[in-house]
Amino acid sequence: MAEIFSAMAEVAMLELNISCPNVKKGGACPAQDVGHTSRLVRRVKKVVGKPLIVKLSPNTADIVGVARAAEEAGADAISLVNTFLGLAVDLEKRKPVFANTLAGLSGPAIKPLALKLVWEVCRQVRIPVIGMGGISSGRDVLDYILVGAAAVQIGTVNFCEPGAAVRIIGEIEIEMDKLQIKNLSEIRGKLQA
Ligand SMILES: Cc1cc2nc3c(=O)[nH]c(=O)nc-3n(C[C@H](O)[C@H](O)[C@H](O)COP(=O)(O)O)c2cc1C
Repeated sequence: MAEIFSAMAEVAMLELNISCPNVKKGGACPAQDVGHTSRLVRRVKKVVGKPLIVKLSPNTADIVGVARAAEEAGADAISLVNTFLGLAVDLEKRKPVFANTLAGLSGPAIKPLALKLVWEVCRQVRIPVIGMGGISSGRDVLDYILVGAAAVQIGTVNFCEPGAAVRIIGEIEIEMDKLQIKNLSEIRGKLQA
């Protein structure tokens, strides 16, 4: 599939999602394992002639190890995070709410958790990192840039507000004016921790 998409003129780059949690087997995915990530990225990289972004999972004990494995295997950029595994229960029925028992949690609740992982990965890889998780304002975007993200993506907010991306882009400019930031490079990766 990567080979087919890579050959399409309209496709500028590919994002390889190796972190989908909505599966049976308790949400297991390749991005939980350094070896699996490495093999998969190497194989896909061999057949794509376009930049390859590899999307990581927060549901691993070693996100930096997995990020480094993706980088060494040829990823051109990394994106993170996918959703956090969660559990919702139906008390009356004594059953999980979701058919696969576990499901992915996203949105504002995960922002501090996601930001921490993006910060950790940004410090340990040389390739660009695309940050995401709970972004719903321009200020959120600047937070991700401050911890080192080269770019961001927004997910869940689109479900509540389809025009969110346009609003957020406007807010970034307003926040930058307020904070007297002329260029995002002035704050990118500049968290003093
Ligand atoms: C309903 C839903 C479907 C998603 N489907 C995908 C998917 O197909 N591929 C993928 O890489 N990530 C998928 N994600 C994860 C999001 O792209 C994103 O990584 C995550 O939700 C965190 O960002 P957010 O808090 O801005 O949504 C999905 C998220 C949600 C909520």
